[in-house]
Amino acid sequence: MDENNNVEPAPKKPKKNRLVILGVVAVVVVALGIGFWQWHNTAGFCSAICHTPMDEYYDTWANGTTDRMGNAVSNPNGMLAYAHANYDEAGNAVEHGAGMQCMGCHVPTISEQVSEAAAWVSGNYEYPLEAHTLDDLVAARGLEDSTQFCINSGCHSDLQEKSAFVQSTAAIDAKRNPHSMPHGDVACTECHHGHTVSVNYCTNCHNDSVVPDGWMNAKDYKKLMGSSK
Ligand code: HEC
Ligand code: HEC
Ligand code: HEC
Repeated sequence: MDENNNVEPAPKKPKKNRLVILGVVAVVVVALGIGFWQWHNTAGFCSAICHTPMDEYYDTWANGTTDRMGNAVSNPNGMLAYAHANYDEAGNAVEHGAGMQCMGCHVPTISEQVSEAAAWVSGNYEYPLEAHTLDDLVAARGLEDSTQFCINSGCHSDLQEKSAFVQSTAAIDAKRNPHSMPHGDVACTECHHGHTVSVNYCTNCHNDSVVPDGWMNAKDYKKLMGSSK
């Protein structure tokens, strides 16, 4: 044995401290992450982070005075985003804005979020944002068909029975009940629009179909949207 015997083993204490620091850092990162995730799930996040491309969409939800194209809207209740801000996910009426947030409908999936983030960072998006069809949103969420977007165990579960669904609009238009869809199924978003006023699709052919307050007939809607839909 040489005098190296006298060398003290490296002091343990600093290592322990480093572990403690690492632990603290990890806790802070997780806490920030949870805070971020909660904020991320609010409408404010969509507006604050994506600012430019989301502003029109945010306004349809928050104020309802314009649609996503900037057209003036006098009765916002025909825009799904606005109308849903009045209700929580259990269907209880709440103060406007305290209800469903953007991600209540746009359930974020990793692939969707990553491509949105990449598009935002690179500026590679159309302005105003091109509206996706319901099919795009349904595919992003991994659902089987578009009805599940609106009717599932969490949302509008009372309409799961076909008869209940048909009955729900019978009083609005007894002759041409829109939910009866006598010529075959029509996707919900052919009539119910997220960020523009809703349209009674049946008015494409039937002039006598009832157009509820805040809704439009098909001809006026096409005129309003021009070629941009
Ligand atoms: C009630 C459900 C609902 C809510 C709440 C909602 N959206 Fe939408 N959103 C839709 C539907 C449905 C579409 C598909 C186009 C349409 O029908 O108007 C859509 C389309 C979009 C699009 C077009 C691009 C795409 O991904 O399809 C954007 C952007 C968007 N919404 C952003 C928002 C933002 C931002 C909020 C919150 C401020 C929000 N949405 C709240 C239902 C909703
Ligand atoms: C052909 C047009 C059309 C289609 C397609 C359609 N709806 Fe409707 N829906 C209407 C009309 C019109 C109303 C009445 C709206 C009003 O009175 O403001 C309505 C009302 C509703 C209501 C009740 C809203 C309230 O004020 O209580 C719900 C929920 C609803 N629809 C869900 C759906 C779902 C889910 C789908 C797809 C499976 C769908 N609708 C497809 C036309 C349609
Ligand atoms: C593409 C055009 C078109 C669309 C869109 C359309 N219909 Fe029709 N519909 C027709 C035609 C054509 C007839 C047969 C006309 C006839 O028998 O006088 C018809 C017949 C009917 C009938 C039978 C009673 C009648 O007037 O003869 C009902 C009820 C009806 N449609 C309801 C609806 C409803 C509800 C919608 C929306 C979900 C709708 N239609 C959408 C073209 C359309």
